[in-house]
Amino acid sequence: MPEATMSAAGEPAASMPDGSLRASQLRSDAIEADLPKNPQRYRLLTGDRPTGKLHIGHYFGSIANRVRLQDAGVPAMLVIADYQVIYDRDGVGDIQENVFSGIADYLASGIDPSRTTIFTHSAVPALNQLLLPFLSLVTEPELHRNPTVKDELEHSGGRAMSGLMLTFPVHQAADILFCKANLVPVGKDQLPHIEVTRLIARRFDERYGRAVPETPVFPQADALLSPSPAILGLDGEKMSKSRRNTIEIGMSADETARLIKRAKTDSDRRITYDPQNRPEVSNLVLLTSLVSGQSPQAVAERIGDGGGGGLKKACTEALNDYFAPIRARRAELMADPGHLREVLHAGNERANEVAEATLDDVRTAMRMNY
Ligand code: TRP
Repeated sequence: MPEATMSAAGEPAASMPDGSLRASQLRSDAIEADLPKNPQRYRLLTGDRPTGKLHIGHYFGSIANRVRLQDAGVPAMLVIADYQVIYDRDGVGDIQENVFSGIADYLASGIDPSRTTIFTHSAVPALNQLLLPFLSLVTEPELHRNPTVKDELEHSGGRAMSGLMLTFPVHQAADILFCKANLVPVGKDQLPHIEVTRLIARRFDERYGRAVPETPVFPQADALLSPSPAILGLDGEKMSKSRRNTIEIGMSADETARLIKRAKTDSDRRITYDPQNRPEVSNLVLLTSLVSGQSPQAVAERIGDGGGGGLKKACTEALNDYFAPIRARRAELMADPGHLREVLHAGNERANEVAEATLDDVRTAMRMNY
């Protein structure tokens, strides 16, 4: 969710070795094929940093996919990663607003809290406690090698590396392993963190052993790299809040129209779908295609010689039609903060039960069950 770490399409993993990217992709493809047959084999965990409002890049890049997996019957947990907000900035920002508006976005988009547990880090002590044994399982050079951490440090405007910035991937391993998740839908930029998670699970087993002889305490988690459409911001750059080129899920139809009106296009009146040569025009075509169920080529053909104006009109209408029911539900949810709070509290309670059970296994394996 933060501009620095998440994009609709998932950033290319900065300097991930090709082989390991390919291996991750192969495992992900195999799982994608197995999912409809055996949804109960999987436990899914994923999450967002509540650093801002969720936008349509998040919707098409991850939220819609989460709803799809939930509806396929995969037991799922969704962490609102509030302790991840503070690794690259000096405060929590609009944390309350971001958390509750994010929950409203999830629910309005089809996340069902009776099937998907929504929780925040800060409410689950046993999850956070896993960080201690986990930190013993990684070395400082390993932490410094994480390409996504390096990349984020470079983009954080000359700040010094904080202790949390260096170690948050280990904390993210705790997010994944506290509920023994084996499936983590993410973009490619998160693959280094999944690798850390796998390493920690393996080393925990080797070094500290098991709670029961037959199975390791922690599973090997896999990334689910489902293809998601590469949506750009309205200026043709990566969609991110800091570039002010986003359309938030919760924006009104009028705001959406105003923003799309200002979007960049080009002077060729003939509309085509050509992401290589006409990235801005093609991005609007793609958006229209996603929300209308027509192929990008069919959308382009329908608009024909309508030019940028015709394209923007079609895009605005299609987008606003698609999001109208979601926005209506979202408005109702936002009008009932008590309900949103109840949803979060129930999720936190459930997450605490799960985390306590796992921490018990950890104490047993480590012979700290006095
Ligand atoms: N770091 C992730 C991001 O920036 C958010 C996140 C936090 C996450 N905890 C997670 C993702 C656990 C997957 C699993 O998008």
